[in-house]
Amino acid sequence: GRKRSLEGKMVLITAGPTYEAIDPVRFIGNHSSGKMGYSLAEEAAERGAKVILVSGPSGMVVKHPSIELYRVTSAKEMMAKVFEFYEHTDIGIASAAVADYAPREVAKEKIKKKDEHLTIELVKNPDILKTMGEQKRHQFLVGFALETENEEENAQAKMQKKNLDMIVLNSLRDKGAGFRNDTNRIKIFTPAGKKEFALKSKEEVARDILDCIEAEILK
Ligand code: PMT
Repeated sequence: GRKRSLEGKMVLITAGPTYEAIDPVRFIGNHSSGKMGYSLAEEAAERGAKVILVSGPSGMVVKHPSIELYRVTSAKEMMAKVFEFYEHTDIGIASAAVADYAPREVAKEKIKKKDEHLTIELVKNPDILKTMGEQKRHQFLVGFALETENEEENAQAKMQKKNLDMIVLNSLRDKGAGFRNDTNRIKIFTPAGKKEFALKSKEEVARDILDCIEAEILK
Protein backbone atom coordinates (compact mmCIF):
# COMPACT_ATOMS: atom_id res chain seq x y z
CA GLY A 1 0.00 0.00 0.00
CA ARG A 2 1.15 3.51 -0.73
CA LYS A 3 0.58 6.71 1.22
CA ARG A 4 -2.68 8.40 0.20
CA SER A 5 -0.87 11.73 0.17
CA LEU A 6 -3.02 13.28 -2.59
CA GLU A 7 -6.39 12.27 -1.12
CA GLY A 8 -9.01 14.93 -1.87
CA LYS A 9 -6.91 16.58 -4.59
CA MET A 10 -7.91 16.93 -8.21
CA VAL A 11 -5.02 16.52 -10.63
CA LEU A 12 -5.40 17.54 -14.29
CA ILE A 13 -2.83 16.04 -16.66
CA THR A 14 -2.30 16.53 -20.40
CA ALA A 15 -0.52 13.72 -22.25
CA GLY A 16 0.48 12.52 -25.68
CA PRO A 17 0.83 14.35 -28.98
CA THR A 18 -1.75 16.39 -30.82
CA TYR A 19 -2.61 15.70 -34.44
CA GLU A 20 -3.38 18.69 -36.66
CA ALA A 21 -5.31 17.67 -39.76
CA ILE A 22 -4.02 18.59 -43.23
CA ASP A 23 -6.72 16.75 -45.17
CA PRO A 24 -9.03 13.79 -44.40
CA VAL A 25 -6.10 11.33 -44.30
CA ARG A 26 -3.05 13.35 -43.18
CA PHE A 27 -1.91 15.26 -40.15
CA ILE A 28 1.01 17.04 -38.50
CA GLY A 29 2.02 15.24 -35.33
CA ASN A 30 5.02 14.26 -33.23
CA HIS A 31 6.62 11.25 -31.54
CA SER A 32 5.01 11.53 -28.09
CA SER A 33 3.64 8.15 -26.94
CA GLY A 34 1.80 9.46 -23.91
CA LYS A 35 3.84 7.22 -21.59
CA MET A 36 5.12 10.04 -19.38
CA GLY A 37 1.67 11.53 -18.85
CA TYR A 38 -0.07 8.19 -18.28
CA SER A 39 2.62 7.25 -15.72
CA LEU A 40 1.96 10.51 -13.88
CA ALA A 41 -1.78 9.81 -13.94
CA GLU A 42 -1.35 6.29 -12.50
CA GLU A 43 0.98 7.52 -9.75
CA ALA A 44 -1.27 10.44 -8.76
CA ALA A 45 -4.26 8.06 -8.63
CA GLU A 46 -2.27 5.60 -6.50
CA ARG A 47 -1.70 8.46 -4.07
CA GLY A 48 -5.43 9.05 -3.73
CA ALA A 49 -6.00 11.90 -6.19
CA LYS A 50 -8.90 12.19 -8.57
CA VAL A 51 -7.23 12.43 -11.98
CA ILE A 52 -8.48 14.00 -15.18
CA LEU A 53 -6.27 12.80 -18.01
CA VAL A 54 -6.66 14.69 -21.29
CA SER A 55 -4.80 12.70 -23.91
CA GLY A 56 -3.97 13.16 -27.54
CA PRO A 57 -3.80 10.07 -29.79
CA SER A 58 -1.95 7.36 -27.85
CA GLY A 59 -1.94 3.58 -27.60
CA MET A 60 -1.60 3.71 -23.81
CA VAL A 61 -4.37 2.41 -21.58
CA VAL A 62 -5.56 3.60 -18.19
CA LYS A 63 -5.68 1.10 -15.33
CA HIS A 64 -6.64 2.96 -12.16
CA PRO A 65 -10.38 3.54 -11.57
CA SER A 66 -9.77 7.07 -10.23
CA ILE A 67 -8.51 8.24 -13.62
CA GLU A 68 -11.04 9.85 -15.94
CA LEU A 69 -9.65 9.68 -19.47
CA TYR A 70 -10.68 12.14 -22.18
CA ARG A 71 -9.34 11.45 -25.65
CA VAL A 72 -8.79 14.42 -27.95
CA THR A 73 -7.07 14.88 -31.30
CA SER A 74 -6.03 18.49 -31.91
CA ALA A 75 -4.57 21.23 -29.71
CA LYS A 76 -7.83 23.15 -29.90
CA GLU A 77 -9.77 20.12 -28.64
CA MET A 78 -7.23 19.59 -25.86
CA MET A 79 -7.54 23.23 -24.85
CA ALA A 80 -11.36 23.03 -24.68
CA LYS A 81 -11.32 19.84 -22.59
CA VAL A 82 -8.68 21.19 -20.18
CA PHE A 83 -10.72 24.31 -19.48
CA GLU A 84 -13.83 22.27 -18.65
CA PHE A 85 -11.91 21.11 -15.57
CA TYR A 86 -9.34 23.81 -14.82
CA GLU A 87 -11.38 25.76 -12.30
CA HIS A 88 -11.67 22.73 -9.99
CA THR A 89 -8.06 21.63 -10.47
CA ASP A 90 -5.61 21.64 -7.56
CA ILE A 91 -2.56 20.47 -9.51
CA GLY A 92 -2.13 20.88 -13.27
CA ILE A 93 0.61 18.98 -15.09
CA ALA A 94 1.20 19.58 -18.81
CA SER A 95 3.15 16.66 -20.23
CA ALA A 96 1.52 16.74 -23.67
CA ALA A 97 3.60 17.54 -26.73
CA VAL A 98 1.18 20.04 -28.25
CA ALA A 99 1.71 21.05 -31.88
CA ASP A 100 2.70 24.71 -31.93
CA TYR A 101 1.21 25.20 -35.42
CA ALA A 102 -1.73 23.79 -37.36
CA PRO A 103 -2.68 23.99 -41.05
CA ARG A 104 -4.63 27.20 -41.69
CA GLU A 105 -7.35 25.18 -43.36
CA VAL A 106 -8.16 21.49 -43.60
CA ALA A 107 -8.59 20.39 -47.22
CA LYS A 108 -12.02 18.83 -47.71
CA GLU A 109 -10.72 16.19 -50.09
CA LYS A 110 -7.48 14.24 -50.03
CA ILE A 111 -4.75 16.46 -51.52
CA LYS A 112 -3.72 15.06 -54.91
CA LYS A 113 -0.11 14.50 -55.89
CA LYS A 114 0.61 17.11 -58.56
CA ASP A 115 3.38 19.74 -58.59
CA GLU A 116 7.00 19.34 -57.51
CA HIS A 117 6.39 21.62 -54.51
CA LEU A 118 3.49 21.83 -52.12
CA THR A 119 3.06 24.59 -49.58
CA ILE A 120 0.89 24.17 -46.50
CA GLU A 121 0.27 27.36 -44.58
CA LEU A 122 0.41 26.97 -40.80
CA VAL A 123 -1.00 29.18 -38.07
CA LYS A 124 -0.11 29.27 -34.40
CA ASN A 125 -2.10 27.02 -32.07
CA PRO A 126 -3.30 28.27 -28.69
CA ASP A 127 -0.73 27.71 -25.92
CA ILE A 128 -2.75 25.64 -23.45
CA LEU A 129 -0.28 25.83 -20.58
CA LYS A 130 0.35 29.54 -21.02
CA THR A 131 -3.39 30.16 -20.84
CA MET A 132 -3.60 28.00 -17.69
CA GLY A 133 -0.83 30.16 -16.24
CA GLU A 134 -2.66 33.37 -17.08
CA GLN A 135 -5.84 32.11 -15.40
CA LYS A 136 -4.05 30.59 -12.40
CA ARG A 137 -5.62 31.21 -9.00
CA HIS A 138 -5.25 28.42 -6.38
CA GLN A 139 -3.77 25.90 -8.84
CA PHE A 140 -0.23 24.52 -8.57
CA LEU A 141 0.98 24.47 -12.16
CA VAL A 142 3.69 22.21 -13.59
CA GLY A 143 5.01 22.32 -17.15
CA PHE A 144 7.46 20.24 -19.13
CA ALA A 145 10.20 21.55 -21.38
CA LEU A 146 11.50 19.42 -24.21
CA GLU A 147 14.70 21.03 -25.39
CA THR A 148 17.54 20.35 -27.80
CA GLU A 149 19.80 23.34 -26.97
CA ASN A 150 20.31 25.91 -24.19
CA GLU A 151 18.18 23.51 -22.17
CA GLU A 152 18.32 25.06 -18.70
CA GLU A 153 17.91 28.67 -19.82
CA ASN A 154 15.01 27.77 -22.10
CA ALA A 155 13.28 25.73 -19.38
CA GLN A 156 13.55 28.52 -16.83
CA ALA A 157 12.36 31.08 -19.36
CA LYS A 158 9.31 28.91 -20.07
CA MET A 159 8.55 28.62 -16.35
CA GLN A 160 8.48 32.42 -16.10
CA LYS A 161 6.68 33.12 -19.34
CA LYS A 162 3.92 30.61 -18.59
CA ASN A 163 3.59 31.58 -14.90
CA LEU A 164 4.44 28.07 -13.62
CA ASP A 165 5.29 26.84 -10.14
CA MET A 166 7.57 24.11 -11.48
CA ILE A 167 9.04 22.92 -14.76
CA VAL A 168 10.38 19.49 -15.67
CA LEU A 169 13.18 19.55 -18.21
CA ASN A 170 13.93 16.60 -20.45
CA SER A 171 16.53 16.91 -23.14
CA LEU A 172 16.56 15.16 -26.49
CA ARG A 173 20.35 15.21 -26.14
CA ASP A 174 20.20 12.69 -23.29
CA LYS A 175 20.15 9.09 -24.42
CA GLY A 176 17.05 7.31 -23.11
CA ALA A 177 15.19 10.55 -22.40
CA GLY A 178 12.15 12.20 -23.91
CA PHE A 179 9.84 10.69 -26.54
CA ARG A 180 8.66 7.08 -26.62
CA ASN A 181 11.42 5.60 -24.44
CA ASP A 182 10.35 3.73 -21.32
CA THR A 183 12.91 5.85 -19.48
CA ASN A 184 13.47 9.54 -18.93
CA ARG A 185 16.13 11.77 -17.40
CA ILE A 186 14.85 14.97 -15.89
CA LYS A 187 15.82 18.11 -14.07
CA ILE A 188 13.18 19.86 -12.00
CA PHE A 189 13.20 23.64 -11.60
CA THR A 190 11.21 25.72 -9.18
CA PRO A 191 11.65 29.48 -8.83
CA ALA A 192 13.86 28.63 -5.80
CA GLY A 193 16.11 25.89 -7.11
CA LYS A 194 17.06 22.93 -9.26
CA LYS A 195 17.13 19.17 -8.76
CA GLU A 196 18.78 16.65 -11.08
CA PHE A 197 17.77 13.02 -11.40
CA ALA A 198 19.34 9.89 -12.90
CA LEU A 199 17.98 8.01 -15.92
CA LYS A 200 14.98 6.04 -14.63
CA SER A 201 11.81 4.33 -15.80
CA LYS A 202 8.94 6.75 -16.50
CA GLU A 203 7.06 5.18 -13.56
CA GLU A 204 9.92 6.15 -11.24
CA VAL A 205 10.21 9.59 -12.86
CA ALA A 206 6.51 10.12 -12.17
CA ARG A 207 7.13 9.35 -8.50
CA ASP A 208 10.01 11.85 -8.33
CA ILE A 209 7.87 14.56 -9.94
CA LEU A 210 4.94 13.99 -7.59
CA ASP A 211 7.28 13.88 -4.57
CA CYS A 212 8.62 17.29 -5.60
CA ILE A 213 5.13 18.69 -6.12
CA GLU A 214 4.01 17.44 -2.70
CA ALA A 215 7.10 18.92 -1.04
CA GLU A 216 6.35 22.31 -2.66
CA ILE A 217 2.64 22.26 -1.79
CA LEU A 218 3.36 21.42 1.86
CA LYS A 219 5.98 24.21 2.19
O1 PMT B 1 4.81 10.91 -24.36
P1 PMT B 1 6.20 10.33 -24.18
O2 PMT B 1 6.62 9.52 -25.40
O3 PMT B 1 6.33 9.54 -22.89
O4 PMT B 1 7.24 11.53 -24.12
C1 PMT B 1 7.20 12.43 -23.05
C2 PMT B 1 7.46 13.88 -23.49
C3 PMT B 1 8.87 13.99 -24.04
C4 PMT B 1 6.46 14.29 -24.56
C5 PMT B 1 7.27 14.75 -22.21
O5 PMT B 1 8.16 14.34 -21.22
C6 PMT B 1 7.48 16.24 -22.51
O6 PMT B 1 8.57 16.77 -22.49
N1 PMT B 1 6.35 16.95 -22.80
C7 PMT B 1 6.37 18.34 -23.24
C8 PMT B 1 6.77 18.40 -24.68
C9 PMT B 1 6.72 19.79 -25.24
O7 PMT B 1 5.98 20.00 -26.15
O8 PMT B 1 7.48 20.68 -24.64
P2 PMT B 1 7.57 22.25 -25.06
O9 PMT B 1 8.86 22.69 -24.47
O10 PMT B 1 7.35 22.44 -26.52
O11 PMT B 1 6.33 22.92 -24.32
C10 PMT B 1 6.43 23.51 -23.04
C11 PMT B 1 5.19 23.24 -22.20
O12 PMT B 1 4.06 23.94 -22.74
C12 PMT B 1 4.78 21.78 -22.09
O13 PMT B 1 4.33 21.55 -20.77
C13 PMT B 1 3.64 21.66 -23.09
O14 PMT B 1 2.70 20.64 -22.70
C14 PMT B 1 3.01 23.04 -23.03
N2 PMT B 1 2.37 23.52 -24.28
C15 PMT B 1 3.14 23.78 -25.38
C16 PMT B 1 2.56 24.28 -26.53
C17 PMT B 1 1.17 24.50 -26.57
N3 PMT B 1 0.56 24.97 -27.66
N4 PMT B 1 0.42 24.23 -25.47
C18 PMT B 1 0.99 23.73 -24.34
O15 PMT B 1 0.29 23.47 -23.34
